[in-house]
Amino acid sequence: MNLSSLVRLRRLWDRVRPLPRPVYLPNTPRVADAFPENVFRTPNTMTLAAAALSEEAVCFMEELIDRLTPSEELAGQQAYYRLARAQFGRHMRFADLTTALWAASTLIRPSDYLEIGVRRGRSACVVGATNPECAILGFDLWLPDYAGVPNPGPGFVRSELEGVGHQGSVELVSGDSRESVPAYFAEHPDAFSDIITVDGDHTALGAATDLANVLPRLKVGGVLLFDDIVQRPALRGVWERLVKRDSRYVTWEYTDAGDGVAAAIRIGDRPMLHWRDQ
Ligand SMILES: C[S@@+](CC[C@H](N)C(=O)[O-])C[C@H]1O[C@@H](n2cnc3c(N)ncnc32)[C@H](O)[C@@H]1O
Repeated sequence: MNLSSLVRLRRLWDRVRPLPRPVYLPNTPRVADAFPENVFRTPNTMTLAAAALSEEAVCFMEELIDRLTPSEELAGQQAYYRLARAQFGRHMRFADLTTALWAASTLIRPSDYLEIGVRRGRSACVVGATNPECAILGFDLWLPDYAGVPNPGPGFVRSELEGVGHQGSVELVSGDSRESVPAYFAEHPDAFSDIITVDGDHTALGAATDLANVLPRLKVGGVLLFDDIVQRPALRGVWERLVKRDSRYVTWEYTDAGDGVAAAIRIGDRPMLHWRDQ
């Protein structure tokens, strides 16, 4: 079998492989429940995208990076933003996990944030800096030298969060998320989040398991973020099957440049019958 047949077979397998499915819970809380007189309005995907692609988001990240422990990776991210802004000025449009998270964090003002794949706390710090009181719950295996960068673990992440002014509670659960996340929810049946980031295990099955485990815990009106859908095409397939095709969500994907990021806004407790289904 030649290489192109193998690639075709692989793509077919990615489309049809059995994936774990979320088991949704009745009466999911709404983000609005935390707002006085329920004045909260769920942003639509265009609003979320406009914020994620804004110059404000990029400028926020450039400044935030200055407050984090330096690394080559962060320096590269910052240099990319600066060069792009210098070249394209106010017309620059770019999104990644961190700008999408800035958008969600400023639009939703979360009180509870959950992240699978915390690593050095870069994305958690976006939430911690924009919403200093937000409770942060993270899951990670702390794989050593992940992507060639030291992955020092919970103590390091706590000090990064403190460094950006976060004051809310921080709970960091160590272990394989396939087991640690269901174990956590078994002990915390009432735990729901306003924003969830899934950025841990990057295998199709691992990411699908993480999504299946956390999707039922996203509040209605909340935002889910999923990273690397360009860098890992199999992850894009997982996203489409578990989230994009589910009418509980409206979604936005940025795939023009960088690693690619996907966002979903949960619009319903149960599947919605909307114009796409009629
Ligand atoms: C891409 S990094 C997360 C980056 C972080 N979200 C950020 O934006 O800076 C992925 C992290 O997932 C963790 N990870 C990988 N497989 C995992 C698993 N099965 N369970 C828990 N964590 C895992 C790695 O240890 C690593 O820290």
